[in-house]
Amino acid sequence: MEPALWTAVDAYLADRLLPSDPALDAALAANAAAGLPAIDVSATQGKLLNLLARLHGAKTILEVGTLGGYSTICLARALPPVGRLLTLELDPKHAEVARANVDRAGIGDKVEIRVGPASETLKSLEDPYDMVFVDADKPSNPTYWREALRLTKKGSLIIVDNVVRNGGVIDNLEDPGVQGVRQMMDLIATESRIEATAVQTVGAKGYDGFLVALVV
Ligand code: SAH
Ligand code: DHB
Ligand code: MG
Repeated sequence: MEPALWTAVDAYLADRLLPSDPALDAALAANAAAGLPAIDVSATQGKLLNLLARLHGAKTILEVGTLGGYSTICLARALPPVGRLLTLELDPKHAEVARANVDRAGIGDKVEIRVGPASETLKSLEDPYDMVFVDADKPSNPTYWREALRLTKKGSLIIVDNVVRNGGVIDNLEDPGVQGVRQMMDLIATESRIEATAVQTVGAKGYDGFLVALVV
């Protein structure tokens, strides 16, 4: 394990591949100033989310877990002018910081932030979404997975962050977050409507992984 090297390589990749991004830099600065935890997706991961949304042609995106809106900005930028993103956040302070960040990024008119426990908000939703990004409290992943399936249709894309957790997914079975990931994986394993993979990642945010699932 060489986390310092992973971070340095991420910096190199960002330097070559990602244009300077004042709106994302400002969002991270505002998050830090407000005392939010630095658990946003990394710059290279955020760009991957942006590219996946564009490849997919997503017009409607549902995000579970807003924090300061870093991933929200990455995803909302992928939307066409008519596109809409709904993001769900428990903590009103996080939502307030995110509101300012998305507005500053110039995509605020496409983004709705709904405050409350995501499991409750999800229950109230009906419309199918083209893409769902799940990145909130990990013990609730089975619930978020079921709701993501209910709120998508054939051809929709579902992405779940943090499915490896430093390898904990196979050796830290006491951890409630790991249990949530594993229960979700069990649901996917027996779900005929889903074609999925997961890819392990290392980088500035450590050793983790993304699940990518297509509703078929
Ligand atoms: N997607 C963000 C990071 C999200 S961090 C990014 O990459 O920029 C996880 C977020 O989920 C935190 O802001 C936390 O407050 C929120 N959260 C935790 N429990 C929640 C719940 N029950 N409902 C909705 N959001 C929740
Ligand atoms: C945590 C949550 C995340 O979404 C993440 O990307 C990293 C860590 C956490 O709760 O510790
Ligand atoms: Mg995450």
